[in-house]
Amino acid sequence: MSETVRLQKYLAGCGIASRRKAEEIIAQGKITVDGEVVTTMGTQIDPATQEVRLNGKVVTPHADFLYVLLNKPQGYVTTLSDPQGRPIVTSLLRGINIRLFPVGRLDLDTEGALILTNDGELAQKIQHPSYEVTKTYEAQVVGRPSEKILKKLEHGILLEGKKTAPAKLIVMAQGTGTTSIRITIHEGRKRQVRKMFQAVGHPVLHLKRIAYGHLFLQGLLTGKYRLLTPEDLKKIFIKKIPLQNNK
Ligand code: URA
Repeated sequence: MSETVRLQKYLAGCGIASRRKAEEIIAQGKITVDGEVVTTMGTQIDPATQEVRLNGKVVTPHADFLYVLLNKPQGYVTTLSDPQGRPIVTSLLRGINIRLFPVGRLDLDTEGALILTNDGELAQKIQHPSYEVTKTYEAQVVGRPSEKILKKLEHGILLEGKKTAPAKLIVMAQGTGTTSIRITIHEGRKRQVRKMFQAVGHPVLHLKRIAYGHLFLQGLLTGKYRLLTPEDLKKIFIKKIPLQNNK
């Protein structure tokens, strides 16, 4: 007996993109099933008997999943192509000839930890709000935020009409006119860390993501990547706030 599966889940399982991105690709009319364009979300397909194509190319399930942690440099875009011709993060994956996609994004001017994979299901899990995967950043901000401001950021502030979820902040170092702060959040709103500090009058000068959950860069040099092991992947989902761990 053959089994059916939702089209977006099938595409994610084939390493096309995360499930959310796969939905976008379906909505854009890029997917055909047995030669017919399908834009209806949730369409069930039978991979054993039906042929799925993306932009005309047959899509097949992946035998191997690959997980990579990249230390993204500033100036690289977290997309698979860039119409403006700026350098893209996947160009740093020298030696890997499988198509990987980034899990979430880092701004052009943000550096640090970026996971790339062809496992759409895991990518979805890392990004889905229900898993509350923490992301830890080191932010160098202008001035010296007071205890009151730090507490305010921890409890949540209004950003674009919506309160931010609880965060954890710790001051790491004080410079001349700047402060280095480690901040852990589990949301992934656009430019969230920058906007949070901007909102309390301490704009970010420099931002680096140092961990997903308890998975740290751990000495990985800027522009370099390493392959992740099953143990590494488990660390992503550890809930305890990683405050004093190494980088
Ligand atoms: N928050 C930001 O402001 N930028 C990022 O790249 C990630 C989180």
